[in-house]
Amino acid sequence: MSGPSTYNPKSGIERWLDQRLPLPRLMHDTISTFPTPRNLNIWYTFGGILTFCLGVQIVTGVVLAMHYVANANLAFDSVEAIMRDVNYGWLIRYMHAAALGPDVLLGRHGHHQPLQRHPGDRQPHRHLAVGRLRGG
Ligand code: HEM
Repeated sequence: MSGPSTYNPKSGIERWLDQRLPLPRLMHDTISTFPTPRNLNIWYTFGGILTFCLGVQIVTGVVLAMHYVANANLAFDSVEAIMRDVNYGWLIRYMHAAALGPDVLLGRHGHHQPLQRHPGDRQPHRHLAVGRLRGG
């Protein structure tokens, strides 16, 4: 929030809630009236989504690594054990496999492309990896 809140509860219920659990005020101050740069658009959420996916990969990956056996003769059985015996192992493995989707679809260079195309950005969005990929 920037400056004092401008939320103005209208009904009695809203005033009652505002004194006890001011969630509508929080929504109003952070979503409706929080000042943001004009060129921010929906595409900018993908950076946060990717960061979240990377966090999921790392957390689930570390748990998988606790149970995985990196040996050609034992790896298959260890993954089988993750799926059958480890508590919620199936969930952890499927989360690890699924969080890769957005990572690949939007990841690394991909999520910067719309930023370059958006007319609000007068200068092409320069990013080390993007520059390299475009030969710049
Ligand atoms: C950008 C980060 C990561 C990506 C994109 C990624 C991707 C993947 C993919 C695609 C698989 C195969 C999943 C399957 O079909 O079962 C896999 C398996 C695995 N990953 Fe990762 N991973 C990441 C990070 C990590 C980290 C940080 C660790 C551990 C420190 C880890 C540990 C493992 C292990 C042990 C397996 C084998 C078990 C299995 O197949 O379910 N990963 N990873």
